[in-house]
Amino acid sequence: MPTEHDQPADTANSADKAAPLAGKHRAPPCTLVIFGAGGDLTKRLLMPALYNLSSDGLLDDSMQIVGVNHGERDTGEFRNELSESLRKFAADRASTFHTSQLNEKAWDWVVQRLQYFAGEFESDDTFESLKQLLSKMKTGNVVFYLAVSARFFRPIVEHLGRAGLLKEEDGNFRRIVIEKPFGTDLASAKDLNDHILGYASESQVYRIDHFLGKDTVQSILAVRFANALFEPVWRREYIDHVQITAAETIGVEGRGRFYEQTGAFRDMVPNHLFQLLGMIAMEPPNSFSAKSVRDKKAEIFDAIQPLSARDVVFGQYEAGPAGPGYRQEPDVAPDSRTETYAAARVHIDNWRWAGVPFYLRTGKRLAARRTELSVHLKTVPFRLFRDTPVDRLTPNVLTLRIDPAHGTTFDFNVKVPGPVMQVGAVQSSFNYGDFFAERANVGYETLLYDCMLGDETLFQRADSIETAWAAADPVLHPEGAPLDVHGYPAGSEGPAEADALLAADGRAWRPLGDSRKKS
Ligand code: BG6
Repeated sequence: MPTEHDQPADTANSADKAAPLAGKHRAPPCTLVIFGAGGDLTKRLLMPALYNLSSDGLLDDSMQIVGVNHGERDTGEFRNELSESLRKFAADRASTFHTSQLNEKAWDWVVQRLQYFAGEFESDDTFESLKQLLSKMKTGNVVFYLAVSARFFRPIVEHLGRAGLLKEEDGNFRRIVIEKPFGTDLASAKDLNDHILGYASESQVYRIDHFLGKDTVQSILAVRFANALFEPVWRREYIDHVQITAAETIGVEGRGRFYEQTGAFRDMVPNHLFQLLGMIAMEPPNSFSAKSVRDKKAEIFDAIQPLSARDVVFGQYEAGPAGPGYRQEPDVAPDSRTETYAAARVHIDNWRWAGVPFYLRTGKRLAARRTELSVHLKTVPFRLFRDTPVDRLTPNVLTLRIDPAHGTTFDFNVKVPGPVMQVGAVQSSFNYGDFFAERANVGYETLLYDCMLGDETLFQRADSIETAWAAADPVLHPEGAPLDVHGYPAGSEGPAEADALLAADGRAWRPLGDSRKKS
């Protein structure tokens, strides 16, 4: 969305630079300081995103990128390391990155602006030297990106504040981007917010949930609010229930140490899955301004009934068709009780959704990779077709497919061809690739670009983070015994107990794997 920082495309163009993508403005001049520049996030996501933004001509020529990390290396080595990882990354995603046509100019543009800055994240010296470096930049606008382990969030923000690096002077912005996990429960999230807001104002803090960087997630609002068809039925009178799934086939992939502390619930539910819930359930905002959109999402989080243990099922993968069990993974305790699967029945206490359950599930080593939301409508009210009783009609289901398929499907009923009036279920589908050119995208492009523009729409506000944790807290700190963790074979649909959660309500999950019925 345009802001006062936007500048017309042609003011900063240089001869060998791509023209900005149609309809977009170049981001304002700014220095991007990445803490954790030697880490995985920088290599796998931030650099490819900067490369894509550069290809699209969306970065200002005066931009500089300072990579802060502990450990000595010079800028030349740093540039080589990142070039190597970008090439490898592009090769792994050849279908969208077209390795053979890697835009060398666009990558070179990024490389020329990269500089390495060795420093400990908790040392005063680092921030004093950084201050000197930043004072020599052409622009006073700075985005500090915390691509670091969560334990460094507090000290980095504190040092930035104490060094005066968060002061916005002479119309320059100073912004902090913070990754998840933002806290581990309500108390720690509150504490972290209080700490950060002691050094920066809320408008300077950009809390990232990378799901919101996905086009297919942003499109949920487009599907809902740019089509007259859906909104009238988007309520308890017509909707039976909603399912939100983020199923993965991968295991913990060498992240055993992190995962042992985190588990599937904290890793995915109060953040990614609640964000999807917010998009599908929020009231229409008055405008697409950051305030309107975030206010409506905050209202939904506030209306989520605190989860109770009886509405939640935890699971852990055991050896199965897809490989060994979680307890055999590196850095995982042989008697670990950490959940790798979580399912929850969520109730929203508001006029629109009273009585409509939202079923959420996520897990590692499941039968398929699938992130999707499916909205299940109620069946028609009476038996009109003699040969097809109402209970044999397939209910309408609108599925918004987020990953890896991008698009929608809609299940509905038609007459089966032939002399008898019989009704049969069919599915129509839309795939993004059939209508739009697939763009190389890692999901961080929009988030980085929006942060430079000062558009907070896709970032988490302090209050929403806290209301989301508040809803999740009773599961994290149960009054009685901790939740049972049920085994499920690696490569399966998840624990039987999660099926029972829905079966108790007379419903069933949409199957994930090959067993998925054609509806
Ligand atoms: C991350 C979680 O936030 O999201 C990971 O920490 C998870 O455990 C990942 O695999 C899923 O994101 P995506 O975009 O691959 O669906």
